[in-house]
Amino acid sequence: MTIKPSADAQKEIEMQRAAALLDAGQLVAFPTETVYGLGADAENPSAIARVYALKERPPNHPLIVHLASNADPAYWIDGAMLRAARALIDAFWPGPLTLILPRAAHIPAAVSGGQRSIGLRCPAHPLAQALLNAFNRLGQMKGAPQRGIAAPSANRFGRVSPTNAQHVRDEFGGQVPVLDGGACAVGIESTIVDLSRSFPAVLRPGHISAAQIAEALGEVPRAGRDATAGAPRASGTLHAHYAPRTPLFLCAQDEIAHALKEASARGERLAVLARGNFAEYISQSAAQYASVHIVGAPSSPSDYARALYRSLRQLDTLGCTRLLVERLPEAPVWAAVNDRLSRAAAAFAGKHF
Ligand code: TXA
Ligand code: MG
Repeated sequence: MTIKPSADAQKEIEMQRAAALLDAGQLVAFPTETVYGLGADAENPSAIARVYALKERPPNHPLIVHLASNADPAYWIDGAMLRAARALIDAFWPGPLTLILPRAAHIPAAVSGGQRSIGLRCPAHPLAQALLNAFNRLGQMKGAPQRGIAAPSANRFGRVSPTNAQHVRDEFGGQVPVLDGGACAVGIESTIVDLSRSFPAVLRPGHISAAQIAEALGEVPRAGRDATAGAPRASGTLHAHYAPRTPLFLCAQDEIAHALKEASARGERLAVLARGNFAEYISQSAAQYASVHIVGAPSSPSDYARALYRSLRQLDTLGCTRLLVERLPEAPVWAAVNDRLSRAAAAFAGKHF
């Protein structure tokens, strides 16, 4: 008679295997509520070096350290826990918020790309937490006081972040095991708040808005250019980032309508990402154009964000010459999505629309 382990027991075995790989200095990709991460033992410089090599990321770009819900963040930081950090942790952890704080001297500089700060985040995804807990238990058996998993988004440097397990396999093939936690609920990377300088600053907008940060802090954080001038280096703050392979342009609705006509006259394969009624309208008028691919995007900012990278990856497989994305409102609710789209478009700024 064979005894089949229960689903829970199977999951536990999978977590223990993944934790053992991390313990041995290997990499494991895992889901978070934002995007999938490419994980390594945060205190093992040679494991960190593997992350940089696999991602083809310059070694001076710091990684985020992921912590279990019951971890003590003070282990990772230098000096006393700031009141501002405590307020944001209480309000938003576990969740899609990364804090930049002064790094404790005993934490290897490799994880921070040599900087004196460290990025900390406590993800809400249950599989991420299960992995962190299994990795911590293994550490405790070896006398390690705390453990964390350093993880950038599990994509090659500069590319679109993965929001499901297949995306990660598409990036790295079989080079790294992937824990499959389904599609990410948030879909874009965490909000990054820098608390390592004399003022709070949003270095990367995300699902948790600047207004929510302000409310929790009782102080309006700097944002945009005011936040990033002189900031610790964050690769997501590079002007060009998050780019698909197909040249991407942000266009007003009338520009898209015009481009559709021109493209169909030339037989050019064109991809369009547009919302709601406008997507429907151009789909109807473009039904006769075989060379045009129109993908509808959701109308609300959080639904749009959740679908964005999946849509960009899908559109990227169509062999189109250009990807036209409907320009979104400049309102604060669209800040995070506009940030990613404008960086994707910036990668093609030299090209002619
Ligand atoms: O949602 C997320 O944050 C995802 C998931 C996997 O947690 N991770 C992610 O990692 O987006 P990555 O490496 O693709 O982007 C992390 C950003 C980078 O822009 C990095 O430069 C910045 O965080 N960062 C990390 N540590 C930092 C530090 N000490 N100082 C300044 N920026 C830091
Ligand atoms: Mg990334």
